[in-house]
Amino acid sequence: MDKVLARGSGTPTPRPRARTALTLAAAGVAVFAVTVAVATSASAGTTLGSSAAESGRYFGAAVAANKLSDSTYVGILNREFNMVTPENEMKWDATEPSQNQFNYTNGDRIVSHAQANGMRVRGHALAWHSQQPGWAQNLSGTALRSAMTNHVTQVATHYKGKIYAWDVVNEAFDDGGNGARRDSNLQRTGNDWIEVAFRTARTADPGAKLCYNDYNTDGQNAKSNAVYAMVQDFKARGVPIDCVGFQSHFNPNSPVPNDYQANLQRFANLGVDVQITELDIEGSGTAQADNYSKVVKACLAVSRCTGLTVWGIRDSDSWRASGTPLLFDGNGNKKAAYTSTLNALNGGGTTPPTTAPPTTTPPTTAPPTTAPPTTAPPTTPPAGGGCTATLSLNQWQGGFVTYVTVKIGASPANGWTVGLTLPSGAVITNTWSATPSGTTGTVTFRNVDYNGQLGAGASTEFGFQGNGVGPSGTATCTVR
Ligand code: XIL
Repeated sequence: MDKVLARGSGTPTPRPRARTALTLAAAGVAVFAVTVAVATSASAGTTLGSSAAESGRYFGAAVAANKLSDSTYVGILNREFNMVTPENEMKWDATEPSQNQFNYTNGDRIVSHAQANGMRVRGHALAWHSQQPGWAQNLSGTALRSAMTNHVTQVATHYKGKIYAWDVVNEAFDDGGNGARRDSNLQRTGNDWIEVAFRTARTADPGAKLCYNDYNTDGQNAKSNAVYAMVQDFKARGVPIDCVGFQSHFNPNSPVPNDYQANLQRFANLGVDVQITELDIEGSGTAQADNYSKVVKACLAVSRCTGLTVWGIRDSDSWRASGTPLLFDGNGNKKAAYTSTLNALNGGGTTPPTTAPPTTTPPTTAPPTTAPPTTAPPTTPPAGGGCTATLSLNQWQGGFVTYVTVKIGASPANGWTVGLTLPSGAVITNTWSATPSGTTGTVTFRNVDYNGQLGAGASTEFGFQGNGVGPSGTATCTVR
């Protein structure tokens, strides 16, 4: 193992405590990022989503639009999960079956279901060698390059403000142990196709986190080393990348690697979030349960691991159904793997995720030498009952995303309400993980079903997107 690999020590990165503020007046861009240090205590959530939320994470599932009429399926989805990934409905062949003719019907159905039930959405996937429509498979060179950027622009614009994170590029590296890019029609348009896709996606939806997603990158190996080098290079050159997704499709021939956590950590150390994006583990009984537990614990030990998604709900829903790789059996009953996953999520003593990185275009002008006045964020839970709300504003010309961290004080909460006043002219266009009372002026945000009940000292995050200038001051917080 060389020195680069040895960085993956598995030790969580200390979370920054200070507010950083950057005003880019000339560019009309301001970024306020606040990160609050939080200690979580062991608690006992009763669903995957609520338990993950206790450490500020999400728990998601891949969802198929044609199963949204199956009441058993939807019952489990609504009860257990607070993030969804369309399993196929946002892929290129689904969204652009003929060139420049877009079909969002099934993707929209999943987004609507998610929004109506307080879940967020991971978009999957904008640029990929697989599941391309036939017309794109037949293109090459500049025609394919511009078809790709048009596709990214159109789809990311259609879903603008509704996507937590996009898998901008999926599976672009080779499995052969050579660390090379995968040969594909997209790769043959030029090595810069990946960064072009990321820049295009950022322009179309500046509020979405932009991820690179792949498989067989879950441990430290030639392929993950090559992805690591690309992410490092992107960060060094200001190519907008916010996260790396680890698909995590496991089976006896491809088990959970022992350096899984260390691998997540070394990517996080590059300054990106990491997410478990397509988890399934073939097997049964205790062995399968133990493997799920290992994966969850690895994510919870890495502060920038912001959540996990399983690739389907019941075994019978899986793309690998014969391997019974999921958390619910074909009848929708909880398996041993469900219980071990829930227990791991409830384990306590975990490291809460750090605040999302700014998602604005990198600065093009020097920031001012003095930061605007700031209030030190709380570093310990409020002493009494109550709660605190800390804002993190990501502002660009004409629009903003605000993330709000709600932190519960010394007494458990059954629910919370955050109040703030928007600057004049600001209009909220989309809110996730909370219900707003309005879209302008003074607005209160109430918890949704899965994130209201929080233990003492626990925290959760919600957010909203809008037009105009976003709020950067203080917010009130009350508990029920
Ligand atoms: C799979 C779906 O689950 C199947 O329904 C479909 O037939 C093929 O694609 N990596 C990915 C996912 O990024 O999009 C794939 O999903 C599984 C592997």
